[in-house]
Amino acid sequence: MNTPAAASLDRQDLEAFWMPFTANRQFKAAPRLLARAEGMHYWTAEGRKVLDGVAGLWCVNAGHGRRDISEAVSRQIATMDYAPPFQMGHPDAFRLASRVANLAPEGLDHVFFTNSGSESVDTALKIALAWHRVRGQGTRTRLIGRERGYHGVGFGGISVGGMVNNRKFFGAMLPSVDHLPATHSLQHNAFSRGLPAWGAHLADELERLVALHDASNIAAVIVEPIAGSTGVLIPPVGYLQKLRELCTRHGILLIFDEVITGFGRTGSPFAAQEFGVVPDMITCAKGLTNGSIPMGAVIVRKEIYEGFMTGPEQAIELFHGYTYSAHPVACAAGLATLEVYEREGLLQRAREMAPYWEEAVHSLRDAPGVIDLRNYGLIGAIELDPLPGKPTARAFQAFLDCFERGVMVRTTGDTIALSPPLIIERSHVDELFGTLGDVLRGR
Ligand SMILES: Cc1ncc(COP(=O)(O)O)c(C=O)c1O
Repeated sequence: MNTPAAASLDRQDLEAFWMPFTANRQFKAAPRLLARAEGMHYWTAEGRKVLDGVAGLWCVNAGHGRRDISEAVSRQIATMDYAPPFQMGHPDAFRLASRVANLAPEGLDHVFFTNSGSESVDTALKIALAWHRVRGQGTRTRLIGRERGYHGVGFGGISVGGMVNNRKFFGAMLPSVDHLPATHSLQHNAFSRGLPAWGAHLADELERLVALHDASNIAAVIVEPIAGSTGVLIPPVGYLQKLRELCTRHGILLIFDEVITGFGRTGSPFAAQEFGVVPDMITCAKGLTNGSIPMGAVIVRKEIYEGFMTGPEQAIELFHGYTYSAHPVACAAGLATLEVYEREGLLQRAREMAPYWEEAVHSLRDAPGVIDLRNYGLIGAIELDPLPGKPTARAFQAFLDCFERGVMVRTTGDTIALSPPLIIERSHVDELFGTLGDVLRGR
């Protein structure tokens, strides 16, 4: 903190901001401040260039500093800064909804806008409950998530989520929630490339829950097709198909939380298409605006939307929405973002890069402390053996060392997670894994 840019913030200036999901005291003692971004890189407040291995936070899929997006945002904010979304509309909201629906799997063709992944999850859960009720099956109130799942930080999301620290401080949460088991198994699947072979049978746990509660009490199952925040857990071959079959058989809605897998991360627009499994709703956010302006969405199957379009025409059909749903500036960012993705073929690019990426991930196999490597599309994970008595410390130290050497990665528990912008070139992949390899090997 001794260069001019960084020195302009002293310890006291750092105090007021209560940083999210951050060790505040540790950070404020040695801050990592970012000041600028372009393409595949950030620059720190001290002027150091840092390769972005995580697309900001799984969101800057087209890379940083896209002029088309910033210009669309500037134009919109100057033309109309805000428009109320209740009982009013503006053209770009409808245009963006159509474009998102066109990207989604066949049959998912209505879009409800939110401002984040967490709000998308809460919205999808509420739509599921309300839909069963409006069609006369109001006993279906039970929600099923999965252990180790991450669905944001709203009360709905933490209730169906399964990461213990995100839950244990916050009381009773939603009633009537169950969890499927996580699919991760080092014993069976360590060092799998792409989808692991073992574990499809874990979807059968849903049958057990149906036997326990009866399907007439279950509203929805929500899972991430690839679990991200918990440390990148790739679905076993056939697992998602099985969940789909069971949900259909029992009249349970299937929600895919695609907040990280949406918008090209796997090599298709959504993981639903990549894995050939069509859910009833998709939640998304992040890549929708390339991370530039907060925005999320829930993409809903036609029958669900139509289920609400009954009753008197002047009646509000769904008592839900946010002041900033379909915010005009976010819509402008979203339209410009989808244009960039399409023009540059970015929603398919992860598929082209995947073989090279996979080799790079698995090149770390012999590095000290590595107990598993996982990959799919442009997603990677390096799981480390925790230091005795110090869970998370080993991965966090690797994160700090990488950052010192000009590479930004992310850690969760003792897993290093990677999700670079989809514009990544082979030279960046080499740099990313070269640095990671050096750090892990203590070079
Ligand atoms: C699968 C999933 N769902 C929901 C969220 C929450 O999104 P947000 O942080 O925008 O609320 C995230 C964030 O990483 C996520 O990965």
